[in-house]
Amino acid sequence: MKTKIEPFKIKTVEAIPMTTVAQREGYLKEAFYNLFTLRSDKVTIDLLTDSGTTAMSDRQWGALMYADEAYAGSVSYYKFEDAVKKITGFKEVIPTHQGRAAERILFQAMGVEGKFIPNNTHFDTTRGNIEFSHGFAFDLLNEKGKNPEIIDDFKGNMDIAKLEDFIKEKGAENIPVCFITVTNNAGGGQPVSMQNIRETKELCNKYNIPLFLDCCRFAENCYFIKKREKGYENKSILEIAQEMFSYADGATMSAKKDGMSNTGGFLATNNEKLARDARTILIVTEGFVTYGGLARRDLEALAIGFEEVMDENYLSYRIGQVEYLGNQLIKNNVPILNPPGGHGIFLDAKRFLPNMPTSQFPAQVIANEIYRLSGVRTVEIGSLMFGESTIMDLVRLAIPRRVYTQNHIDYVVEACTEAYENRNNLKGLKIVWEAPILRHFTAKLAPID
Ligand code: F0G
Repeated sequence: MKTKIEPFKIKTVEAIPMTTVAQREGYLKEAFYNLFTLRSDKVTIDLLTDSGTTAMSDRQWGALMYADEAYAGSVSYYKFEDAVKKITGFKEVIPTHQGRAAERILFQAMGVEGKFIPNNTHFDTTRGNIEFSHGFAFDLLNEKGKNPEIIDDFKGNMDIAKLEDFIKEKGAENIPVCFITVTNNAGGGQPVSMQNIRETKELCNKYNIPLFLDCCRFAENCYFIKKREKGYENKSILEIAQEMFSYADGATMSAKKDGMSNTGGFLATNNEKLARDARTILIVTEGFVTYGGLARRDLEALAIGFEEVMDENYLSYRIGQVEYLGNQLIKNNVPILNPPGGHGIFLDAKRFLPNMPTSQFPAQVIANEIYRLSGVRTVEIGSLMFGESTIMDLVRLAIPRRVYTQNHIDYVVEACTEAYENRNNLKGLKIVWEAPILRHFTAKLAPID
């Protein structure tokens, strides 16, 4: 059969709010033109994030009931630990309430003050946590990854030559850890190849620098490796994941993504001393070592989620749905970052609104227009998030896992296409208030007259 179907049927439904253009114009004004400030009962289709928005399976919902809520030594924790160890092979697994908690604990335990931390592209919370601990975060993405128009298989790859220059310039003793983010969220959900991870590890070994993966979307990355990298076509996702993690000394994960669940995360490593220090911080700030700030039922759901996310029928549907959205937009001439990523489609604001300066937040203007027209909420990943020097100015349409159907996606295509057709009538935005760090979450904006 040629028709690709959702590899699940629906057992419970949740009504979605339907609103009018006039109502949404009012909601936008009340929200100071920042979609993070919008109440979700004003949103028809929510593509703000794929994080924690997954629809859990019947198995996961069932597991919530038989989870063991013991404070210490919960059986549910051990199922979670086993699942993480099976995939990553790391000896020490520390649960956290979400990804950024794992990041904070890691950087605090390592001590990154005055130190330099490279990554293909730091996600905003990773950068935020490094800077909050008075370290310096650097993005060393390969050149192709910075150009939304170039089509390439692994646009998330680390620029290894640049990494070596960076290590020589800063001094290996000033680099406590090197990161690779799979897939590269801020760079369009683009995958990193196995070869690139292996070569990055070889370079890190040469200078005695540990390599960590920010592995929120590890299964999506492994699926791309299977489809695109020679030698992996007959390997299972689990085998590919095991090889990928074998090149790393540790990982942080927001399990709200490829944990197929609504909350959770972990810090995992083979470094026993680091794990001991991290657990001390965990107990002071998050919770005991066998729950890390989570309800034990969350750990139970995650143990199942880690299994479900590696199902190739699921991954083929997942990556296929995102690709379908991208291809429909391309057909309608809406400029997107190419090729489609793993967890979403990213509109290219620089080609969408070529005459609007980045200081007027063109990607935010587009996101607001899509919402005004349709009630579809997207998120700006551009000059509002990263400042005016941002390399790419993007609007991310992050697709929650197992949540929306083909018809919902067609509605999103129509919304983006209409926004594009109306591009010449769009006006820029200015900031009227901003926080000193991670400003995009809470900034207040106003249209420029
Ligand atoms: N790293 C990456 C690559 C991420 O995408 C995220 C979260 C985090 C770390 C932090 O994890 O939210 O659990 O604390 N990304 C979400 C997003 C928020 O919308 O892309 P967290």
